Amino acid sequence: MRFTRAIVRPPADGFAAGITSSGLGPPDLTLALEQHEAYCRTLERLGVAIVKLDPDPDFPDSTFVEDTAIVTGRGAMLTRPGAASRTGEVAAVGAALRGWFPQPAEIAAPGTVDGGDVCEVGRHFFVGLSERTNREGAAQLAGWLAGHGFSASVIDIRGMPGLLHLKTGLSWLGELRLLAAGEIAEHEALRGWEIVRVPEGEAYAANCIRVNGALLVAGGMPATSALLGGLSYQLVPLEMSEFRKMDGGLSCLSVRW
Ligand code: GLY
Repeated sequence: MRFTRAIVRPPADGFAAGITSSGLGPPDLTLALEQHEAYCRTLERLGVAIVKLDPDPDFPDSTFVEDTAIVTGRGAMLTRPGAASRTGEVAAVGAALRGWFPQPAEIAAPGTVDGGDVCEVGRHFFVGLSERTNREGAAQLAGWLAGHGFSASVIDIRGMPGLLHLKTGLSWLGELRLLAAGEIAEHEALRGWEIVRVPEGEAYAANCIRVNGALLVAGGMPATSALLGGLSYQLVPLEMSEFRKMDGGLSCLSVRW
């Protein structure tokens, strides 16, 4: 799929008040803004037009726009994020998305879904059952996907250490190949897929995004970069230190279509 647009939202004052379990200390907002700008410039260089929402200090996690919407080649769905402090983030992303998808579907209570738990792999979607995405939300999403000709399978990541979202530990590299870290790599739902395992000590590198022929990867992950470079991907390393401190990865920073 060739991406032409992405919604992004720079981190706001108060970014450090967002949810985190990283233990890496508070983020530096100035540096986060620089890293966000580099991310946006990279997407633009790859042919993606950026739709930039204003930062919103009322929602410290709102830079992680991916959690608020799922966009496929056949329609869009607004989520209902699993963290109460994040539910209000959906409105602004929904307003922007309606410019292209006038009537997006919506996850309804008591369902919850975070977009970070939704991994598109062509005509199929892996949906993570997590502390953010519940069974009801996953079922609503799977039903909506089925109505649009997509299949879905659920991967329960609750209890897998270090995973906030499914895509914290799993990314699609294209065709039948996945990048996976830790326990996810062994999950039966991935049988039949070629798994590229993230080298020991670089689990954060599991979250990467393929955009128009390039593979955006987190900087400072030499073993993973060497592994992926050896598989002939055109790597674009991006510094993500300040988003990592807030449990965010490359995919979290945009809604792409
Ligand atoms: N800080 C990102 C999240 O917890 O959703």
